[in-house]
Amino acid sequence: MTRASWRTRIGFILAAVGSAVGIGNVWRFPWLTAENGGAAFLLLYLLFVVLVGVPGLLGEFVIGRRARSDPIGAFAKLGGRNWRPMGGIALLASVVVLSFYSVVGGWVLRYLLGSATGAYFDAPQQFFAAIDYGLGAVGFHIVFLLLTAAVVYAGVDRGIELATTVMVPGIIVLLVGLAAWAGSLPNAAGGYSFYLSVDWGYLQANFVDVAAAAAGQALFTLSVGAGVMLTYASYLDEDRSLAADGTIIAGLNTLVGLLAGLVIFPVLFSLGVPPGQGGPGALFISLAGAFADLPYSRVIGVTFFGVVTLAALSSAISLFEVPVAYLVDEWGVSRPWATAGVGTLFLATGSIAALSQSLFTLLADTVANLALTVGLLGVLLFDGWVLGRVALAEYESGAGRLARALGRPWLYAIAVVLPVFLAFTGLSSVTTTLGVSVPAVGLLVGAVLAVGVAIAALRRPESVF
Ligand code: PFF
Repeated sequence: MTRASWRTRIGFILAAVGSAVGIGNVWRFPWLTAENGGAAFLLLYLLFVVLVGVPGLLGEFVIGRRARSDPIGAFAKLGGRNWRPMGGIALLASVVVLSFYSVVGGWVLRYLLGSATGAYFDAPQQFFAAIDYGLGAVGFHIVFLLLTAAVVYAGVDRGIELATTVMVPGIIVLLVGLAAWAGSLPNAAGGYSFYLSVDWGYLQANFVDVAAAAAGQALFTLSVGAGVMLTYASYLDEDRSLAADGTIIAGLNTLVGLLAGLVIFPVLFSLGVPPGQGGPGALFISLAGAFADLPYSRVIGVTFFGVVTLAALSSAISLFEVPVAYLVDEWGVSRPWATAGVGTLFLATGSIAALSQSLFTLLADTVANLALTVGLLGVLLFDGWVLGRVALAEYESGAGRLARALGRPWLYAIAVVLPVFLAFTGLSSVTTTLGVSVPAVGLLVGAVLAVGVAIAALRRPESVF
């Protein structure tokens, strides 16, 4: 049986954008921005997308396109059987993320319906409290999962490519319309100035926390660490410039994040709702409340939550595809059976997250971050220290002149700089939870890694450095 592949280059790009653009852009990003001092966060986030996110994304692309296989198979093919667990971590990360992601997808569907019927208009606070966890949440998580599974079932080109080619432009057009509408609200300017002006004092006082949050978001939003981008690149059959594709993908993804902020902050400010209070659920509550108080609430609500539904679905599809690819590639299972099997798995794991708030929070906050960080670390170290020249050659294949010139700095960055950085930010999120001093731990990890890297460099003279 021939392996699935994308029909067009633009199809691949839009599928990857669909994965990147998700609840993270319209929900997590504005919420983190509000919580971390507005534009101070935005600035660091943009920096990290360029310096960390895109190089990491390319790290996955290179492995996927070279091996043309699912994450576990890819590591084994290129590095030997001992590397399989590294792919396994990425696969596990995709399972962890989708397990809570599809619960949020269910909430979004609920809000979409609620916008059409006006169910939350009178009491937005109570509405969220009534739907967040429990049997209702399980039901809507299952509906969301079924929609996701239907697209994956239809195949890479006839399912994922077709669906995302319609969904991604739809998301952008609707968001532009909403942003234009939001700009006409009274006191929209207050929202813009909160969103777009940098508070240097805040940034200085909270640098480590803001940086860790921005770095985490830069990785989460580009869907790296879970083998999603690796798997998508494995369906490429022509060597075009991965660097160019990666840049376009990151650019469009950032555009959607910025646009979402241009909708959300004017809406909140025009009604005097303080952003950034009360955690992740707050955005659902305050935004829904704001829509309810504005003219044309139903149209606005349906449009907004329609955008979020499309964004959530196109990301969930990519996460679902990772274990499906594994079953198809490694075990020779047919796509329909693989879809059914993986669907059953998510039915169970998502339902548990939909029933238990503490499990949901554990998955969404700690485990997902950790799994994505370790997953990405594996990719980067593998590219830099195991593949070395092979990774560089794959990166260069199809690349233009500018991209080629950046090849060596890229490899150096992902082999040395990014792992140290990731270890630092990953640890700092753990230590923040535990209340340990971050700089001390970070320096220690940095030193250990630097020594490790130096030893590795001496022992591998055939590597590119
Ligand atoms: N990038 C998605 C978002 O921003 O919502 C979330 C995501 C999808 C994270 C796929 C990780 C992943 F592998």
